[in-house]
Formats: sequence, structure tokens, C-alpha cells
Amino acid sequence: MHIDVLTLFPEIFAPFLSTGIVGRAHDNGLIAVRLTNFRDFTHDVHRTVDDKPYGGGPGMVLKCQPIFDAVRHLDANADPPPQRILLTPQGRPLDQQLAAELALQKALLIICGRYEGFDERIRLGLKPLEVSVGDYVLSGGEPAAMVLIDVVTRLLPGALGDDQSAADESFCDGTLEYPQYTRPAEFENMKVPDVLLSGNHQEVDRWRQLQRAERTRLRRPDLIPPAEPG
Ligand code: 6GU
Repeated sequence: MHIDVLTLFPEIFAPFLSTGIVGRAHDNGLIAVRLTNFRDFTHDVHRTVDDKPYGGGPGMVLKCQPIFDAVRHLDANADPPPQRILLTPQGRPLDQQLAAELALQKALLIICGRYEGFDERIRLGLKPLEVSVGDYVLSGGEPAAMVLIDVVTRLLPGALGDDQSAADESFCDGTLEYPQYTRPAEFENMKVPDVLLSGNHQEVDRWRQLQRAERTRLRRPDLIPPAEPG
């Protein structure tokens, strides 16, 4: 998958892109990430990317021209044009379902904002898919871009060492993960549940299913679909 990132701070992506599962996917050519600073698409001596909001008010607004020019430049070298994504707290909440949809794309073009926001015509003119990573406000889209790249990358075939581990995790079936233990069997008076030491795989599976259901009910009842009427 080809991933373009438009950002004013390309340097903050380096360790992320060279570490762990994302780093390996990058090394293997499973993902190719290109970082583009849209400040490079300004034409004035001050390299201005933002300006005061019309109508007044605090903060600065990202201007149309550098972002439009950068997107068109990247589009011109891509066939088909990549799926445009604008990272904003006003966007569609990112969840495993949306990640799975995006993982089917051949190419993504992720736009990271800073300051108070984007000129509305960036939305109207570029028609990006707007994506939010949660109900809180980040200082910029870059951490959200890393979240998005991470969640999509691990869904690409071959990204994980063991293909089963993506399917086993929290959320792939809409529930939370069961509790995990490793050696020793007792640590500071806390014991590993007997069933996990029993060697009875059927009992272990049953216990894990119950734990998932109970955990989800207690911690994230919002994830449980409402019962069918009748
Ligand atoms: Cl995508 N961007 C910013 N700036 N803040 C956010 C967000 C995105 N998602 C949640 N908060």
C-alpha cells in the first residue's frame, strides 16, 4: 500500500516508521510511506500556510492553496488517485471496521492539520474522507496519522508474523480480548487461573469466551449489539 502523508512536521514520523510491525512492513515493502511538507508548496518568502479567520476569533486557519497544490502534485504521480483522508475531530470515528475498509485501498493520501483547523473549502474542494481518532482534541493530526497507519498496516496480509494474531484480538469480533498470563504460575500471591494450567483446550476455549463476554459487558457495554426483538 502506498501512503502519502501531508504534514508540517514530517520529522516526527521517523522512529514510528522504523519500529516494530510498522517498521517491518516498511522494510518489506508492504507499505511505502512518503512524507510531504505542504509548506514546500507555498510561494511567499515567509512560506505561509495559515492565516487569520474571516469573521474574527482566536487561532489561525490553514490556507487552501498550499494543501490544494500539494494534493494535486501527489495525485498527478498516482494512478488511480489515492483515497484522500482528512484527519479532524469532526470526522468519522476510526474503528476496526473503518480500518478494514481502508486496508483494501491501493493508496491513501493522509492530510494532517495543525492550528485551529482547515479552511472549509479544503473539505468542499478536495472531498476527503474525514476521520477522527477519538472524542478529544489533539494539537495536530500527526499522532492521528500514526494511529491510522498502524491500524491499517497490521491488517495487510503478511504484516504480522502469525496471521492468526490479528483475527484473535479485541474488536475483530466486536468484543474485548480475554486475560492473558505467562510464567510464573504464581507472582506476588497472584495465581494463574487453574483452567489455563489444565491442558484441556476445550475448557480453556470456554473460559476465554466467557471472559471476553464478561469483560465486554462490564467495560464496554456499548459494543454489545441490542438483542433482536421477539
Ligand atoms: Cl484526526 N485530529 C485532531 N487534531 N484532533 C483529533 C483527531 C484528529 N481525532 C481526535 N482528535
